[in-house]
Amino acid sequence: MKSSKPQLQVLFSRAQIAERVAALGAAISRDFAGQHVVLIGVLKGAAIFMSDLARALTIDASFDFVGAASYGKGSKSSGEVQLTKDLDRSVSGENVILVEDILDTGFTLSFLRRMVLLHEPKTLRVAALLDKPSRRIEPFTADYLGFTIEDRFVVGYGLDHNERYRNLPDICIIDPMPE
Ligand code: PRP
Repeated sequence: MKSSKPQLQVLFSRAQIAERVAALGAAISRDFAGQHVVLIGVLKGAAIFMSDLARALTIDASFDFVGAASYGKGSKSSGEVQLTKDLDRSVSGENVILVEDILDTGFTLSFLRRMVLLHEPKTLRVAALLDKPSRRIEPFTADYLGFTIEDRFVVGYGLDHNERYRNLPDICIIDPMPE
C-alpha cells in the first residue's frame, strides 16, 4: 500500500489571518459600540480564532463555549447534531456572537443558532473564520466572515486532522487530501 507523507501548503499566513481578524474585531466593535457582547466559541476548532478575535475587540466581552458533534458528516450528511457541552449560563437578553472556525455543510451553526435563540438573546450574530460555500447543505450565512475558500482540506489555527495540526500558526492545505 502506498502511503505518502502529507505535505502542508500555506493557504493563509499568520499575517493574513491577523489582518482579517483585526478587521472583524473592528467591525464587531463598531456594530456593538458601547455595549457588552457574549462570545460563544464552538469547541474545539474555534478556540484560537476566538482568543485572537476577543483581543481585537475594543468593547467589553465575556466568554462561553459550546461543544457540538455532528454525525454522518461527509458523504452521508444526516444533519444530526448533538450538543456535547452546553452554555454555562443563559444568554437571555445578551448580545451574542457565535464564533466558529469553519462553516461547511451548515448543520452545526444552524443547530447552534436554534439552540441559542431558545435563550431569547437581545441579538445573535455569527463570526466564522472560514466558509466553504460549495459544501453547504443547510443554507447559512455568517455575519462576520474571514475568508471564503474552495473545498480543500485545511488545518492549522485551530483546525485539525485527527486532532493534529491545531497549533499551526498558519492555515494550511493538506495535500494529498485525507481520506
Ligand atoms: C467542524 C468545525 C465546525 C463544523 C463545521 O467541527 O469546527 O464546528 O465542523 O461543519 P458543518 O458546517 O458541516 O456542520 P468538528 O466536528 O470537526 O470539531 P472540532 O471543532 O473539534 O474540530
